[in-house]
Amino acid sequence: MSENPLCRVCGGTLREFIDFGRQPLSNRFVTPETLPKETFFRLATGICESCTMVQLMEEVPREEMFNEDYPYVSAGSKVMREHFSAIARRFLETELTGDDPFIVELGSNDGTMLKTIAEAGVRQLGVDPSDGVAQMARDQGVSSLTAFFEKSTAEEVLAAHGHANVIFAANTLCHIPYLDSVFQGIKLLLADDGVFVFEDPYFAEVLRRNSFDQIYDEHYYYFTARSVRELAARYGLELVDVERLPVHGGEVRYTLAHAGARTPSPEIDRLVAEEDELGVASRETLDAFATRVMTVRDDLVRLLRELRDEGRRVVAYGATAKSATVANYCGIGPDLIEFVCDTTPAKQGRLTPGSHIPVRPVEEFHASYPDYALLFAWNHAEEIMAKEQGFRESGGKWILYIPDVGVH
Ligand code: SAH
Ligand code: TMP
Ligand code: ZN
Repeated sequence: MSENPLCRVCGGTLREFIDFGRQPLSNRFVTPETLPKETFFRLATGICESCTMVQLMEEVPREEMFNEDYPYVSAGSKVMREHFSAIARRFLETELTGDDPFIVELGSNDGTMLKTIAEAGVRQLGVDPSDGVAQMARDQGVSSLTAFFEKSTAEEVLAAHGHANVIFAANTLCHIPYLDSVFQGIKLLLADDGVFVFEDPYFAEVLRRNSFDQIYDEHYYYFTARSVRELAARYGLELVDVERLPVHGGEVRYTLAHAGARTPSPEIDRLVAEEDELGVASRETLDAFATRVMTVRDDLVRLLRELRDEGRRVVAYGATAKSATVANYCGIGPDLIEFVCDTTPAKQGRLTPGSHIPVRPVEEFHASYPDYALLFAWNHAEEIMAKEQGFRESGGKWILYIPDVGVH
């Protein structure tokens, strides 16, 4: 890895603005046997001074992250299941009404989105390199190809199935450093009047909410309407719509079409103007963000140490990928957190990456409520707090650290 990587989109100069230091792979939950083999990388982000794309300074090889052991499943949140069934139904009513339509999803994971499409009898294909989750999709009747999507995959899909009326990707495009190959593939695979729709964490919202833990190995890019509009144009595509989404701490759903095929929504200019006002690409805003992040770290560590010294029981809720950044950057380990509870079977019984906190089923949280619960899955706060009312009723308190540290 060179000392000064260039922008993966345009070759421009990257200006680094935050460095979280040495970090493990965020979804590599370890066992006592694999612990000595844990690998680390430097987690830092920079902004391209030419095209404004925010990206990681160091890349983790894709096979190390996405393979048959990949533990994340989309179905783990009720809100996300409903979110994906809603967008699937919208596609069925709008874009997938022609003669024998076809939809391709990149990062289709356990098939949560495509299940609705398959049930409607519409041709679908998921593409996902993580075979464990892809098998879960197939078990639900969703066609799934175990592969990394790139130009050659698009050629194969095109030869086997024809053009796609919709190409969809949720929380996946931002995971792919090699966008050049991906966009060439999309340009080939997309039908003349088709749409490429993707949704990912919104960088303006990361700055607004101080949600620094959106930054981890798998999130290579941090998109804005401006950077996506520029990216699309490089490949003969055009950004034609943007839609703010409340999920995962604030995302944007971008709709792209072949250049000139659809009329761009005025929402795009409005969102870009808002981004400019916020200063998403300005040195001042980015430096201020980095300073606020250090304050959160200091406040959180101080609070957890105080609680420990007072003899309080503190557990964490949600073994999220995001929490790897928090725990490792702040140095939060089993001395401060008794365990992390999580509903994902593939994470339970293991230790959190780098920080080595045991992951236990949520039943253990219910069996004996702690005094405090650090909400690592803060992006699912509403859903979790609603179903865990018993914890508060027992006198328990939630600790949140986004946008700042507080006890609720
Ligand atoms: N779309 C789901 C899953 C997001 S997790 C949701 O929003 O809940 C990201 C997924 O992208 C993982 O399942 C991972 O295996 C997959 N992925 C990573 N690189 C990919 C690539 N190049 N092509 C297709 N999928 C990829
Ligand atoms: P995410 O933030 O990447 O969606 O990950 C959320 C994690 O939190 C995932 O491991 C599942 C877990 N989780 C629970 O344990 N209980 C819940 O109610 C929810 C919504 C998530
Ligand atoms: Zn660039």
